[in-house]
Amino acid sequence: MREERPLTPEQRRLVEVIADALYQRGPGMAFTGAGISTESGIPDYRGPNGLWSRQNPTHFRDFLTDPAVRLRYWERRRARYPVLAAAEPNDGHRALARLQVAGYLDVIVTQNIDGLHQKAGSPPERVIELHGTAHLIRCLSCEARWPAEAFDPGPPGTVPDCPLCGGLVKEATVAFGEPVPRELLERALTLAEATPVMLVIGTSLAVVPAAHVPRRAARSGAFVAIVNDEPTPLDREAHVVVRGRAGTALAYLADLLTGDRLKADQGLTVR
Ligand code: APR
Repeated sequence: MREERPLTPEQRRLVEVIADALYQRGPGMAFTGAGISTESGIPDYRGPNGLWSRQNPTHFRDFLTDPAVRLRYWERRRARYPVLAAAEPNDGHRALARLQVAGYLDVIVTQNIDGLHQKAGSPPERVIELHGTAHLIRCLSCEARWPAEAFDPGPPGTVPDCPLCGGLVKEATVAFGEPVPRELLERALTLAEATPVMLVIGTSLAVVPAAHVPRRAARSGAFVAIVNDEPTPLDREAHVVVRGRAGTALAYLADLLTGDRLKADQGLTVR
């Protein structure tokens, strides 16, 4: 687990600007990526210790056509899923849930497949999982679905198939080359066009069409705030960029807007 790093005075000031924007113009929405879950012990993909620095992602076309790729896919899932299933939400997930319950955030659009927003208390109907969820297994032929804990993938070295139709099965997630469900993407883009405030948390914005969502908000005149450990392609269009850890920054943001004591200290009048 990485050490706690308190916010610098400059980071606190920037978070206070975000709090003011949400307070004056909210409710807003959030767009999250793997960087909000690293503090829960789940590696991201392109950060310094990212998953893609250690292994190549599975492409959907190869999964469909190559038995060796399917075997590698299921061996990786047998190794990785227990980490996802055991992970607990961190201060960042909990802060966004608090802001949703308090009415400062409406919907969270996430690229993550770990379900930690919902586990932190975000209402499921206000979380859009653009890349699906690792907690469901789906058959690519008959579209049957099972909760992960109710699906036995068989022993290591084997590839499960659909117990109903014998078809190919995989996580109910969007692999490279697999389309993002159109209705989810359309809903996310429509919300992004209308939102007055867009929080962009823990994402490199390297993957489309997901990365179009915060970009659409920026182009539609939203106040855009980015909290990310590294630069992103949207930094130039953002009103605020907090270069730092999502958990600490978001916890302070939620305290400012939902903790009355802090609100009084910071001169934010009670909503
Ligand atoms: N606080 C703030 N930022 C963080 C933290 C943290 N604790 N930990 C990591 N980050 C930053 C990293 O510096 C990186 O810029 O989060 C970003 C994560 O970027 P990616 O690893 O590219 O993850 P993401 O943007 O979610 O990837 C999008 O790519 O591989 C596909 O389907 C996968 O949904 C994923 C998509």
